[in-house]
Amino acid sequence: MSGVSRRQFLAWGLPAGLGVTGAAVAATDSKATRPAPSGMIHPNPAQYSPGRPIPVERQAAGVPDPMQILSAFDYGKVTQLPGGQTQREYTLTAFDREIQVAKGVTFPAWTFNGTVPGPTIRCTEGDRLVIHFRNEGTMPHTVHLHGIHQADMDGVFEIVPPGGSYDYELVAEPFGLFLYHCHVMPLKKHIHKGLYGTFIVDPKTPRPPAKELVMVMNGFDTDLDGENEFYTVNGIANYFADHPIPIEVGESVRIYLVNLLEFDLINSFHLHGNVFKLYRTGTSLTSYEITDTVMLCQGERCILEFMYNSPGKFMFHAHQSEFAELGWMGLFDVRPHDQRA
Ligand code: CU
Ligand code: CU
Repeated sequence: MSGVSRRQFLAWGLPAGLGVTGAAVAATDSKATRPAPSGMIHPNPAQYSPGRPIPVERQAAGVPDPMQILSAFDYGKVTQLPGGQTQREYTLTAFDREIQVAKGVTFPAWTFNGTVPGPTIRCTEGDRLVIHFRNEGTMPHTVHLHGIHQADMDGVFEIVPPGGSYDYELVAEPFGLFLYHCHVMPLKKHIHKGLYGTFIVDPKTPRPPAKELVMVMNGFDTDLDGENEFYTVNGIANYFADHPIPIEVGESVRIYLVNLLEFDLINSFHLHGNVFKLYRTGTSLTSYEITDTVMLCQGERCILEFMYNSPGKFMFHAHQSEFAELGWMGLFDVRPHDQRA
């Protein structure tokens, strides 16, 4: 790599035509210009070949569905450090698997822990986080977090080859709604294949109690023509139209809404029969606006809070009609207070 900067190497399309050897070279180059990443392990390509059978625990049965993803929060393995700081350790493993993206339609995804979106990482501001990343996929990957952290924890230059691993360490700040995704080039491909998830940093004084729901808006280009055939929340088109989300009259609802749609410039969320308090990026406890529709670019996210005063079925959907028709539509089933789901 002498005479060639890391940036130049990246600009030449690093992962596109890159075998494991090239990825290992990139990792070595990275080490030469900054402190050696503590968690880097040398690749073991023989163990992670494309033809490798899928282990039983990674097959479709037992994988969380979009309804479970709504409220599946990964708080990590908690320990108290000397001095009283809370440490949370998470494990993210990238691997390839077929996932269902619509009725009868599967997609050859690249996943974190087997789902698209990956697990929702949740913590409190001031916590020390350690994210153990293992790449058991067939391409080089990273975990790029949004939020504040050091350069070598940013998941951009320390590319982890198949069979490699990396520990991301940071102090969670500020509070808000963030996200993570792979940041290997071509980024468009690594994002649209499914390598992303939600990252929630709670304020030290928690938000008021509510039914909390994570909604990751995305799409799938199933015929690889550079356009999405399906639009979803939490990974399966029309899932919440077929399986309305039960809530109660008078119940406070809080949605953590994240846009990871690739190929289309914007996405949106529209709520029927109601308005919501909008907290952009969730970094303030003061509502930015009261509205019924919000538009988000890729990587943007916001917290929505609302409550229904009367029962019935209420739609929520993208206000781009095409997205709604191609799967981005769901229902809240608002039930009287005494009829619990
Ligand atoms: Cu990747
Ligand atoms: Cu990003």
